[in-house]
Amino acid sequence: MKRLRFKGLIPEAQVTDAKIVLNRRRALGALTGLGAGLAGGGLLAASPVKAKEGQADPSAHLYPVRVNPAYASADVAGQTYPVTPSRITAVYNNYYEFFSGFGTSKSIWKQAQALPLRPWRLEIDGMVEKPLTFEIDDLLAAMPLEERIYRHRCVETWAMTVPWSGFPLAALVKRAAPLSSAKYLRFETFNNPEVAIGQRETRYPWPYIEGLTVAEASNDLAFMATGVYGQPLPKQMGAPLRLALPWKYGFKSAKGLVRITFTDKQPVSFWEQLNRREYGFWANVNPEIPHPRWSQASEQDIGTGERRPTLPYNGYAEQVAGLYSDKTSLGDRLFR
Ligand code: MTE
Repeated sequence: MKRLRFKGLIPEAQVTDAKIVLNRRRALGALTGLGAGLAGGGLLAASPVKAKEGQADPSAHLYPVRVNPAYASADVAGQTYPVTPSRITAVYNNYYEFFSGFGTSKSIWKQAQALPLRPWRLEIDGMVEKPLTFEIDDLLAAMPLEERIYRHRCVETWAMTVPWSGFPLAALVKRAAPLSSAKYLRFETFNNPEVAIGQRETRYPWPYIEGLTVAEASNDLAFMATGVYGQPLPKQMGAPLRLALPWKYGFKSAKGLVRITFTDKQPVSFWEQLNRREYGFWANVNPEIPHPRWSQASEQDIGTGERRPTLPYNGYAEQVAGLYSDKTSLGDRLFR
């Protein structure tokens, strides 16, 4: 519980941001009934769902999409993982681009409304047969959209269950036609300090970068989310395009993607650049490997408030453990 109150992704030196996370924990306590009660309205009086309804998202007509029966629920190993209500997930966000360094993290969703979503392009370049540029609406029209319910586990030890809409990343890898020399995908997110107040903080190595191996990106679980709860993604959840990688800690699931570069060099992520000791490349959910500052043995569901054991690969070992079976060490002592 102590950890949940204030320990976050924040490098220890960044005390101001730690306060923000502390405030977010209090907000969470209110939402889940863990702290001061939230008797109707209160924190959510200015509803982010309403804010979303006010927008004319040009992709709105595409939703809801068909449910992929293989991912119609997130239940596993006799555990039930109820879908977390959207009124919670829509305000409980990590999106450092929209952290001002002041106020509380519950204002992230409000700050994120400043992000323009059109025009929005996705570039695919590097070690591919031919670089590609997609206008987001052309990409959405070309891809096989479906809904999948996934568990989502943050390295901070909170967890939620989310009905994403989107398409398998493998479908995009196929279109990109990577050269056989390409071993990794480097994901880059938007950089627009004019609208993203957090990007005016020069101590952060913007833009947000993440990486996967080509084998990981080709696994069926790796998903590009474009919507959630049967609607387009709200801005604070990564619109118009984000990753959803349910077997890895949430920081791997980069939001607001604008570029994917195929490369033979292991990408160095945003969090690795900030604090390599705490955030590694692999970041596979593993109850046995503690974060340097807290245990990962259990997690707290932010919808129900329930504490439960963390599962290896967040419950997805059957689908992904094989990706790592030939490796005795991943060269990453934190998240083997
Ligand atoms: N993507 C970008 N571009 N910037 C971020 O700060 N935070 C990550 C990830 N993707 C982040 C990001 C972290 S730490 C988590 S836990 C998830 O987004 C949170 O996703 P959610 O807010 O939709 O729950």
